[in-house]
Amino acid sequence: MDIQTIKNRFGIIGNSPQLNYALQVASQVANTDLTVLINGESGVGKEAFSVIIHSLSNRKHNPFIAVNCGAIPEGTIDSELFGHEKGSFTGAVDSRKGYFETVNGGTIFLDEIGELPLGTQARLLRVLEAGEYIRVGSSKVQKTDVRVIAATNKDLLQLVQQGKFREDLYYRLSTVPIRVPSLHDRPEDIHILFRKFAADFADKYKTASVQLDEEAKTLLINYPWPGNVRELKNIAEQISVLSEDKNISARQLQKFLQPYSSNRLPAVTGNSASSNGHDFANEREILYKLFFDMKKDVTELKRMFLDMLQNPSGATQDPAFLNGLKELKSAGEMQPVYMPANIAPAQNLQPVLMHNNDEIHAHEEVEESLNIMDKEKELIIKALKKHKGKRKDAALDLGISERTLYRKLKEYDIDE
Ligand SMILES: Nc1ncnc2c1ncn2[C@@H]1O[C@H](COP(=O)(O)OP(=O)(O)O)[C@@H](O)[C@H]1O
Ligand SMILES: [Mg+2]
Repeated sequence: MDIQTIKNRFGIIGNSPQLNYALQVASQVANTDLTVLINGESGVGKEAFSVIIHSLSNRKHNPFIAVNCGAIPEGTIDSELFGHEKGSFTGAVDSRKGYFETVNGGTIFLDEIGELPLGTQARLLRVLEAGEYIRVGSSKVQKTDVRVIAATNKDLLQLVQQGKFREDLYYRLSTVPIRVPSLHDRPEDIHILFRKFAADFADKYKTASVQLDEEAKTLLINYPWPGNVRELKNIAEQISVLSEDKNISARQLQKFLQPYSSNRLPAVTGNSASSNGHDFANEREILYKLFFDMKKDVTELKRMFLDMLQNPSGATQDPAFLNGLKELKSAGEMQPVYMPANIAPAQNLQPVLMHNNDEIHAHEEVEESLNIMDKEKELIIKALKKHKGKRKDAALDLGISERTLYRKLKEYDIDE
């Protein structure tokens, strides 16, 4: 099947040589049973590629399942993948089939493969090499015929060097590597993608399609897109829904872009190689966001307070004030979708932000807990609420991995 046909059929947008090359490799290997390793940043379309490969293979009428290895707790992942026998661990009241059993004949997409515990890696290697697996708590060897497509946004070779990923598994998995390019590697595709999403959402919400003016286009293309196509799609949707004016200026667009570009802050990118460094980066991202939210609340409070002093009757008509009030009231349930224009955008949001010029210079103490852990917990609860308990989305919003979120839920004893 030629590349254009694949793009049309699977709704893949873009024309950059790297994307075309990735699609070409995907279509060439689809009809083999070779294991494929898809590499690329979050949101570039790795899962979409796995679906394409499965759909173009002769397994297409058999099951396909996507498993996020990073989201399954270490204690249960073997059982999820390979099944378990009754009584094999506390809580195993029944025996259970694993994915390698239920998907027999089909394709398993193992996302975030770098997060797989070493023990599970050994079991996976056995499936890949011999088509054999054993349920947890059993001694019976079972056969399965499953095609594996794995994906990661990590440098697996680096994990191999750190002893976190089996070298033999790495070479077994990367029989066919596919690299899906990030948006910043293919800036020529950014506006095409935006236009397509804007048209789709206009259709969905039955409105006219939003249009970017020249300046807005430049801003769009220069934004770093740490969340890649997923982020671009979300922003296209927000703008389509929330903008009454369909002609979007750079200033309007800026309101929808994230105030910080976490992946691009030098301090954060620093050494994502070590997992400690990475966790530290995650924590720091939470803190940035936290500072930002707190500062915003404080600024709003100051505004309201001054407004009340100036209007003792309480009969204020200032729409910004009323908005601020509304926002504060709903702060418990929902974070505002965009930043108020008086808050510094993007690049300024580093710790320095705390010293930024305020519109109002009043001296005051904020009567609230400034304990970082309290705040982190609060933020996590807020994110879970906002995303109706969907951990994946909450983690994305918090800028941490699902596994980190899971760990923190346990750490802070948060019931969802
Ligand atoms: N080239 C593309 N054209 C159109 N939509 C895309 C493209 N790449 C990704 N998407 C969409 O972006 C979103 C994120 O893709 P996904 O495959 O989940 O990314 P990843 O698995 O790499 O995090 C999905 O909604 C997907 O359909
Ligand atoms: Mg994904």
